Amino acid sequence: MIIKGGTTITADGPRPADVIVEESTITAVTEPGQATGAGPIIDATGLWVLPGAVDAHTHFGMPLGSGVSSLGWQESSAAALLGGTTTIIDFANPTVGEPLPEAVSKWRGMADGVILCDYGLHVTVTDVSGDRLAEIPALVEQGLPTFKGFLAYKGRLMLSLVEMKRLMEAVHQAGAMLLVHAEDGEMNAAAERVLLDTGRTAPCWHPLAHPDESEVKAVAEILDLATVTGCPLTIVHMSLGQSLELLKKTRNTQGRDGKLFGEVCLHHLFADAGLYESGHEAALAAICSPPLRTEGNGDELLSGLVAGHLDLLSTDHCEFPLTVKSAAAGGGFPRVPNGCGGVAERMVVSHSLAVVTGKMDPARWIETCCHRPAELMGLASRKGQMAPGFDADIVLFDPLAEYRWDPLGSSDRAGSLWAGLPVTGRVRDVWLRGRQVVAGGKLTGDQPGGEFLPRHL
Ligand code: URP
Ligand code: ZN
Ligand code: ZN
Repeated sequence: MIIKGGTTITADGPRPADVIVEESTITAVTEPGQATGAGPIIDATGLWVLPGAVDAHTHFGMPLGSGVSSLGWQESSAAALLGGTTTIIDFANPTVGEPLPEAVSKWRGMADGVILCDYGLHVTVTDVSGDRLAEIPALVEQGLPTFKGFLAYKGRLMLSLVEMKRLMEAVHQAGAMLLVHAEDGEMNAAAERVLLDTGRTAPCWHPLAHPDESEVKAVAEILDLATVTGCPLTIVHMSLGQSLELLKKTRNTQGRDGKLFGEVCLHHLFADAGLYESGHEAALAAICSPPLRTEGNGDELLSGLVAGHLDLLSTDHCEFPLTVKSAAAGGGFPRVPNGCGGVAERMVVSHSLAVVTGKMDPARWIETCCHRPAELMGLASRKGQMAPGFDADIVLFDPLAEYRWDPLGSSDRAGSLWAGLPVTGRVRDVWLRGRQVVAGGKLTGDQPGGEFLPRHL
């Protein structure tokens, strides 16, 4: 197959080029008109020809205590493909006392044969007993080199600082990286208690149970622990300009660039806490942790991402049907499952609101959404680049087409975070390892099935 007449985006910027694909691999990226070979010719005139995007942080099949789950592996991965994302990295979340390898097998059992895009798994660690930590090196060997620990969610997932230090030492020793949810669980629990004790149970109160100070404290503490232990660290879903400043300062003063990374998610860049005040449904859709923050933080985070002080633009896609969030809200906002959608929207929304507005150049856009997530998460040789030898995960993106905020056409999506934004553009066609999975903005139905990707840092 030859994709002709489009514009690719290299590290130096946009470049007209033709792309040759043989079977599942990109074999050449040539000057326009230079491509030769057999197979179908695709006319990409007027389109961006992009590497399939990589989302380093999703939750596609998240079971909750009450038995409900986020939209599930199939529907969420369909949304990913329709949004131009061909690779995601999700999480295996062990239950209490469950060995980590068993959790990985269980989560692979849920995804394999169902998921439509390629995927890897981070492993969540909530128990730092010797048995659990001893399981880490073998998982790293098997292609699971990234783990997640929480300073938030008291009584469920939270680790104390002492426990977190043990985890960081074990992860570091195994040559792996730790992802950390940096909010102070004690502080959040205390704030939540005051709200509930004074009768403030509606969804609009959710952000007050997650004070800015809680994230700032946790970010400072985890940066200290990373410095002490030497453990490679990505602070995920950073939501405040103040957090970014702390990361910047530590990177500068400790000279630890290359081991400390920051992730920002689409909703913290382009949605804000005003949504909690704009009606019950919008407030429900916006319930996530850390919460949406006051206007201004998004601009600071975007500037940090553009300048290279943050590394990844992910989604933390964890989308629950609006009916599920709504039913849970009857028991008060703490019962509402946390999480927002975004995997269908990340490329189009960030293109419109960051690239077209001139805040971010196209090369940095592709770096933060495709190349860097692949590189940081151990997929550098296969994913995230439009170059010979890479998987033929290719997206044709029309920057001028009308935006369709819900490509799945579902009325039960809580994804309405994005509905009112001034967004233009559409993912037209997508190939996953050389097979077309989206044509004209619709799934082809000829799904090759997503593959589990072993990763190595
Ligand atoms: O609200 C969120 N972020 N839900 C997903 C779980 C997490 O903490 O990343
Ligand atoms: Zn988290
Ligand atoms: Zn998450």
